[in-house]
Amino acid sequence: MGICEGRVAIVTGAGNGLGKAYALGLAAQGCRLVVNDLGVGTHGEEGATKGAAEQVVDEIKAMGGEAVANTDDVAEWDSGKRMVEQALDSFGGLHAVVNNAGFVRDRMFFTCSPEEWDAVIRVHLRGHFCTSRHAAEYWRAQSKAGNPVDARIINTTSGAGLQGSVGQSAYSTAKGGIATLTLVQAAELGRLGITANALAPNARTRMTNTGAFDMEAKEGEFDLFAPENMAPLVAYLVSEQSKGVTGQVFELKGGQVFLSQGWTDSPAFDKGARLEPQEMDAIVRKLIETREPAKPVYGAA
Ligand code: NAI
Repeated sequence: MGICEGRVAIVTGAGNGLGKAYALGLAAQGCRLVVNDLGVGTHGEEGATKGAAEQVVDEIKAMGGEAVANTDDVAEWDSGKRMVEQALDSFGGLHAVVNNAGFVRDRMFFTCSPEEWDAVIRVHLRGHFCTSRHAAEYWRAQSKAGNPVDARIINTTSGAGLQGSVGQSAYSTAKGGIATLTLVQAAELGRLGITANALAPNARTRMTNTGAFDMEAKEGEFDLFAPENMAPLVAYLVSEQSKGVTGQVFELKGGQVFLSQGWTDSPAFDKGARLEPQEMDAIVRKLIETREPAKPVYGAA
């Protein structure tokens, strides 16, 4: 028996890449699904993969699972409402939202246009907001009505958002914001029976298979970058088994799972009185020198 039997989930951006692997992996574990995908290209080009959501639904049905397609833009306010309604109308409930949809428009900070900045921030940050916000409203109403809620929000961050990435200022900003959003959601929504966790995946998809990283499968070896490697953690987080696991940011690669520590303060320099501008340089440089080294920004020279 699958670990997600009886559960219903929305997976956004599930027509390609990681979202598709999550949807198929969840269906294999008995989860019923709303498969969302707008069918855009890696830079958000309209119509690039039209019908992707429906194709994944067909694949799920062919393997004996249950799913319905949704082709809305995740960053439109009403889209999340429609997805929640679809889950309730089709399957009579909703237990999880897997926020995964997104695209990149990579630029150095000094050449990034306002349009590129807004588009990337919108799809990731607003997309994460709209879908989960409607789901949280539904779960809150259930909780207030005295119905037990055991719900999940699973967000998608990135190493680029946790450590920074040269040439990806908008994307890194959005993904860093998503990691922080996860902490706030966990803190606010726990009392309603909702957990929130984030995942920073590493996988070969049309988004990442650009030659910048060597992600090719090696003959006869474990395929480290197969998107399917990322799906088991998502299935676990959707399942009832992960009850109580909240506010965590996971990084995943092949068969490796990491917990990301996030921002932490160094031990303080404490003068015990107001600091003077003239003494700041010595204090700041001493703090930087003595701090534990952090992971470097991706692509930094
Ligand atoms: P992908 O390009 O293969 O899939 C993204 C999907 O999102 C596409 O099917 C696209 O049509 C859909 N989408 C885009 N905008 C949408 C919108 N407004 N509404 C609904 N659907 C929309 O990319 P991939 O690699 O599968 O990425 C999935 C998520 O994982 C993204 O959030 C990405 O930033 C993140 N990620 C991926 C990594 C990787 O190694 N592949 C690394 C770190 C993060």
